[in-house]
Amino acid sequence: MAPLIVCEDLWKIYRVGDVEVQALRGINLTIDRGEFVAVMGTSGSGKSTLMNILGCLDQPTRGRYELDGLDVATAKPDLLAELRNRQIGFVFQSFNLIPRTSALENAQLPLFYRGLSIKEQRKQAAAALQRVGLAGREQHYPTQLSGGQQQRVAIARALVGAPSILFADEPTGNLDTASSREIMSILEELNRQDGITIILVTHESDIAAYASRELVMKDGRITQDVRRAPHLTVVQ
Ligand SMILES: Nc1ncnc2c1ncn2[C@@H]1O[C@H](COP(=O)(O)OP(=O)(O)OP(=O)(O)O)[C@@H](O)[C@H]1O
Ligand SMILES: [Mg+2]
Repeated sequence: MAPLIVCEDLWKIYRVGDVEVQALRGINLTIDRGEFVAVMGTSGSGKSTLMNILGCLDQPTRGRYELDGLDVATAKPDLLAELRNRQIGFVFQSFNLIPRTSALENAQLPLFYRGLSIKEQRKQAAAALQRVGLAGREQHYPTQLSGGQQQRVAIARALVGAPSILFADEPTGNLDTASSREIMSILEELNRQDGITIILVTHESDIAAYASRELVMKDGRITQDVRRAPHLTVVQ
């Protein structure tokens, strides 16, 4: 089967006033379906820039990006929007939940955009919340949830539409160790049981250890690409 992600000589150049920043400098990368990839590297090395392009939130300055056989640069905007809604889930460090809106309504959002009935939206969102261990918290607002619980709502929102890829940009960056482990076990299960491809940015090597492949970025380039056995979850 063709790879899920193929990048050839991807560049991203930002211009701010007279200053030019080469955030990505010739990325070549192939990712297969079902991989669990951790992206590491110092601050400013281009990790988020790469994630945003792979997740179709941004376009490269030049180079080729094919997602699931589709050339993203030349794809029609409505096709790209459809692809984003159906295939891609995003989780961010800062949760990005809608304030004063319940956990259930937050998780419903991608389904609302698909035009499902309210009843069906609620049913599927409740199932997604249950999946991340938040049954009974459906009516809580984000401010009434812990950081780890808010991140679980964000994961429920990302997975409610059954995406094939999940992008997570430092999903445990604002969490304590125990909550981080819970979040990583959920992601690990989504990868192993559901076969969802996961691409995760992290600064912490014990978080990266959950992945089966580790990329290291430096100055807009990939300087290391290592495949290895992920750590085994200890069942107590
Ligand atoms: N919208 C933007 N406009 C201009 N420059 C930008 C923009 N976004 C990122 N950059 C620059 O591109 C480079 C890469 O930024 P990026 O956010 O991808 O780094 P990162 O590896 O995710 O860093 P961190 O670990 O701190 O999140 C940086 O030098 C940054 O200043
Ligand atoms: Mg970043």
